Amino acid sequence: MEIAIMGYGVVGSGVANVISLNNKKVTDKSLQESMNVKYILDLRDFPGDENEDKIIKDFNTILNDEEVKIVVETMGGQKPAFEFVSSCLKAGKSVVTSNKELVAAKGDVLLKLAKENNVNFMFEASVGGGIPVIRPIDQCLAANEIDEVAGILNGTTNFILTMMIFNSMSFEDALKLAQDNGYAEKDPTADIEGHDACRKICILASLCFGKHVFPESVYTEGITKITLEDVEYARSWGGVIKLLGRAKRVGDKISAMVSPALVANTSILSGVNDVFNTVLVRGNAVGDVAFYGRGAGKMATASAVVADVIDCARHIETRKPFGWGDAVDNYVVNHKDVETAYYVRATGDKIFALKNAEEVFGNISILTRENAPEDEFAFVTPVAKEAELDEKLDKISNINVVSKIRVVNY
Ligand code: HSE
Repeated sequence: MEIAIMGYGVVGSGVANVISLNNKKVTDKSLQESMNVKYILDLRDFPGDENEDKIIKDFNTILNDEEVKIVVETMGGQKPAFEFVSSCLKAGKSVVTSNKELVAAKGDVLLKLAKENNVNFMFEASVGGGIPVIRPIDQCLAANEIDEVAGILNGTTNFILTMMIFNSMSFEDALKLAQDNGYAEKDPTADIEGHDACRKICILASLCFGKHVFPESVYTEGITKITLEDVEYARSWGGVIKLLGRAKRVGDKISAMVSPALVANTSILSGVNDVFNTVLVRGNAVGDVAFYGRGAGKMATASAVVADVIDCARHIETRKPFGWGDAVDNYVVNHKDVETAYYVRATGDKIFALKNAEEVFGNISILTRENAPEDEFAFVTPVAKEAELDEKLDKISNINVVSKIRVVNY
């Protein structure tokens, strides 16, 4: 069977590597006589590369070659990926992608196109890199109503927070180290501002709850405001700060959000360090399930892409449907209506402010850290809707809120 790869970057070259390295295994598992990469589409030249002879510049070469039955999209972004993927599906070719931006924005449209053309559209590598999570949720947990899905979905930010927690590195130094190690992009905005995690929780929520969730509808906060002071207070509370993506069924709607959160040391998420990711799923029959592994990286991600290629090859005459339907209006509830507790760090007249906070919130847990300035204080509020907590926080007079981080209970 002939395969084409669109995009010969980190993941695309990993896919070519894995298909070549494990060719017998890939072929046997595919139930085909051979599995061969025929074309690699990329605008760049790769002189001396082992696949140099396969590089093409014209997408139509792939589109018009009837021998090519499976196309791998590892270009990233939406343009021209959406147009190319749509054309391949319409031409009766199955498509496998690692492109979370594309799946989060257009998953519903592309799955519909795949259905209309009786081919497959698969995207295991779009969430959690090499961690099997899309297929297990869709197939192995198919008997469950999923109530909740959450996790550490971005390796770069988890690495940065790990360096802050264990090595007392500043955010800026940890980001630089992440870039030096090749984890973060030169422009790391999508990672550190939470957009990458947002796309991934949208994909998971669409899959778990059955309706397309657009990234624009999900409240997203990154880790750029987290400081070592917050890390210290989290430690004194008995936990760590993690960037979480989470979504939960709320009647016939869902809540969904990306934000830093205080996670207790007793939670499985607290021990997920470095570039590792973990996805937690709560099903009404199975209970809690966790998927852990490398969320990024060339070969880990390629492993998931090639598994999809194998699945497409095995099901070349049949379609594997996903329960992922159209978007509906007002499906994601406003984050202000979601219940949480807040960790608050502020400055002001400490004794007066903490007394005032107790009057306003009722029970608060006061936190301490060594060498805190005289006018700094921190506490954790009781659980209430965010809007209510914000209103109460505004009532505490003469304080300057420096940090406000959600406290979760996974
Ligand atoms: N930049 C992403 C991360 C890559 O750090 O997790 C994988 O999606």
